[in-house]
Amino acid sequence: MEFSIKNTQAEKQRNDCVVVGVYEPKKLSAAAAALDQASNGYIASILKRGDMKGKLGSTLMLYNVPGTACQRVLLVGLGKERELHEKEYRQILRAAAKAIINSTVGNAVSFLTDIPVGKRDASWRVAQLVEVTLDASYRFDSLKSKPSDPYTFASMVINVPNKADIEQAEAGLQQGLALAAGMQLAKDLGNTPPNICTPTYLAEQAGELAQAYGFQLEVLEREDMVRLKMGALLGVAKGSRQPPKLIVLQHNKGPQGQKPTVLVGKGITFDAGGISIKPAADMDEMKYDMCGAASVLGTFKAIGEMDLPLNVVGVIPTCENLPDGDAVKPGDVLTSMSGQTIEVLNTDAEGRLILCDALTYAERFQPGTIVDIATLTGACVIALGHHATGLFSNNDNLARELLKAGEDTFDRAWRMPLWEDYQEQLSSNFADMANIGGRAAGSITAACFLSRFAKDVDWAHLDIAGTAWKSGKEKGSTGRPVPLLTHFLVQRAGK
Ligand code: BES
Ligand code: MN
Ligand code: ZN
Repeated sequence: MEFSIKNTQAEKQRNDCVVVGVYEPKKLSAAAAALDQASNGYIASILKRGDMKGKLGSTLMLYNVPGTACQRVLLVGLGKERELHEKEYRQILRAAAKAIINSTVGNAVSFLTDIPVGKRDASWRVAQLVEVTLDASYRFDSLKSKPSDPYTFASMVINVPNKADIEQAEAGLQQGLALAAGMQLAKDLGNTPPNICTPTYLAEQAGELAQAYGFQLEVLEREDMVRLKMGALLGVAKGSRQPPKLIVLQHNKGPQGQKPTVLVGKGITFDAGGISIKPAADMDEMKYDMCGAASVLGTFKAIGEMDLPLNVVGVIPTCENLPDGDAVKPGDVLTSMSGQTIEVLNTDAEGRLILCDALTYAERFQPGTIVDIATLTGACVIALGHHATGLFSNNDNLARELLKAGEDTFDRAWRMPLWEDYQEQLSSNFADMANIGGRAAGSITAACFLSRFAKDVDWAHLDIAGTAWKSGKEKGSTGRPVPLLTHFLVQRAGK
């Protein structure tokens, strides 16, 4: 998909489709009014008939509108003018994108970026259009033997109402494209089936990113993990024939000596539960148990595209969690790289086991901040559903920064407690701690477990079990929380 910026007039477009908004009830936006005037009241007459009332997210395609140069006019309902805020604006953009995708339009020109949205500038409005349009046109069909019909929708001209805004709009376009590319990579990796998307595959993907953007890359193999005494990660990997990897990417574009922000992503490429095996229903969705890793790689793609001036390290522990004669068993005690011992009471609580060694490994980068991202607990889905990511942190400022980044990008998180009171649920008679804390507060005790491996550093944990993918008819990766993470880093680079 090609996007370009222009400052032009709706009635003069020689294009497949001009996209303009209509407020409820039946009120023309500026661009729609221009078309109406050129067509001698044709648009107003359609509204009068009641076929388009301006209801938020409704659309109506018109053909051969008199007095205009283009083939079609797409009217998009904007809802009530006073109620049009950021969320509604995104809904409008999505509705327009869907209508174009489902038509045979090849080239469109959108005037939706003319619509005022609070105090949001042209850069923001353009970035949102690009991100939402590319998100709406995403599909994963490379594995179907007969590929679906290719989209006719190939390019979009984005109008900005003032010539003076063109430069800003171009910046917004670049930001939107970078984020969309990162989200697309995260979605592709999540959706790729687990017989293809193995730990080795993730390492190869990291290699391609490193090539493309000049990141430093290191991939630790099983022998390296043995040497480093990563007993917890190795314990999980024992039940699988796929070799585990620990992927380390570095983007060092910040000032020299700036402490890096480290992103640690859970990369279980398939979670069958191990010996504590999961029930069969919907087990296929456990291919998404590497979405934390995918979000780290996606975020690296976005900051690579932006050439963001910040020091960022990505650490991805990755393996499979399968039952096997050699797999870790309930009752086994593992010694983590930190030296702390762990009684494995449930082999399905494996995410925290691979993450704890990755957190310890991350210390060597002398991080200013560590953020881990993981599809860690089903309990988080029970607590927050599919709207908010669970946020846990040992630092209030860091928590605020991440919450704000989520608010700004409509990729929201909600903070959960990490009180000392919960820690005792992890006590074990036979090791320093157990890997589960009972049914109560399952996502909090999982975070408490991780906190024991991030004691002397500002650390946050994002539980994305409910937000990284959708189930049912719309099954597929969401690309979350790439928007939150990318914006978080962009804000840090600006400070
Ligand atoms: N990957 C799962 C968490 C998960 C489950 C995410 C379902 C999304 C949907 C994780 O490894 C896991 O199995 N967690 C267990 C922990 C329990 C054994 C303490 C869970 O949530 O049931
Ligand atoms: Mn599990
Ligand atoms: Zn898991």
